[in-house]
Amino acid sequence: MKVKGIARRSIWLREDGWSLALIDQRHLPHEFRIATLTDCAQAATAIRDMWVRGAPLIGVTAAYGVCLAMRVDASDRALSDAIELLLATRPTAVNLRWALESMRSTLLALPVGERERAAYQRAAAIAEDDVSSCSRIGDHGLAIIESLADKKKGPLGILTHCNAGWLATVDWGTALAPIYKAHDAGIELMVYVDETRPRNQGASLTAWELQEHGVPFTVIVDNAGGHLMQHGKIDMCIVGSDRTTSRGDVCNKIGTYLKALAAHDNGIPFYVALPHSTIDWTLVDGIAEIPIEERSPREVSHMRGLDQEGQWQEIALMPEGSLALNIGFDVTPARLITGLITERGTCQASAEGLARLYDKGA
Ligand code: MRU
Repeated sequence: MKVKGIARRSIWLREDGWSLALIDQRHLPHEFRIATLTDCAQAATAIRDMWVRGAPLIGVTAAYGVCLAMRVDASDRALSDAIELLLATRPTAVNLRWALESMRSTLLALPVGERERAAYQRAAAIAEDDVSSCSRIGDHGLAIIESLADKKKGPLGILTHCNAGWLATVDWGTALAPIYKAHDAGIELMVYVDETRPRNQGASLTAWELQEHGVPFTVIVDNAGGHLMQHGKIDMCIVGSDRTTSRGDVCNKIGTYLKALAAHDNGIPFYVALPHSTIDWTLVDGIAEIPIEERSPREVSHMRGLDQEGQWQEIALMPEGSLALNIGFDVTPARLITGLITERGTCQASAEGLARLYDKGA
């Protein structure tokens, strides 16, 4: 997608052919900064501290983290240490494990001397797979938006949560790919963007992306969605996923479940857009089985932003000493989901629906 008219991806190899460049998302929407990673430990820090975030992008960054490790030492031991380090960064998005296991199986099958080159090839293939999957998700989602827009006079209201745009992937995004394609096809939209406390990925990242692309949007507080649904402003919801179980339960940014409940109560279609790398075929019951990330309470008790002089400031929101709990994700049961939009098409959120599109991930 474009930033100030220049085509960008969220992550790319530098001209030296080995070091990694990425958009440092901690500074958006106010500053566009590019960070360079030159070793595996930096890649782990970039994921853990959320310079990059979003399930697919976490996986791609980790794959390149393995490449950086292989430059220094391509032994079995170094490979398994690198994977362990990267795997421990964030627990919920399954794309991380998927990408790392793909790197492991590719590299272990090769002699040590061939591993560095093969690692870069595999990581690039994972990145390209993400771009084409997201583009196809966009095409399948566009068909759904077109059919809803046909029945609607005026802009179609679409609610989205967190950031499942191109910043969460390599390009296009998951939930936002259909929105970009619909906008480009001339469909009139109004995207309602949940701010998504505590890290505000909606207000900071989704709003920035949509603005760069010229898509009309309105940022709302996380609690406003239900009211807007009751008053006819929302025609559909599209969100992303950090992990989807084999029966179609979806784990996504905290607050997604409440939006799905409100959509269900108001008869509004609730879609989840996800690539194959987000499906965890080993799990069935999302509520019982998906590990949920808990982050620092400081992300709840404090907020960062620019002051009137344009300087970054952090402010305290609550009485000193207050307890704060920062749960990163929740699970939306399959029964509340209208459909899963994947790179292979749209299916029912159920074991049968997913089986129709995939043969256990094949
Ligand atoms: O904590 P984050 O910012 O990495 O979480 C990302 C999300 O939950 C996104 O909303 C998304 O749906 C998954 S990535 C396409």
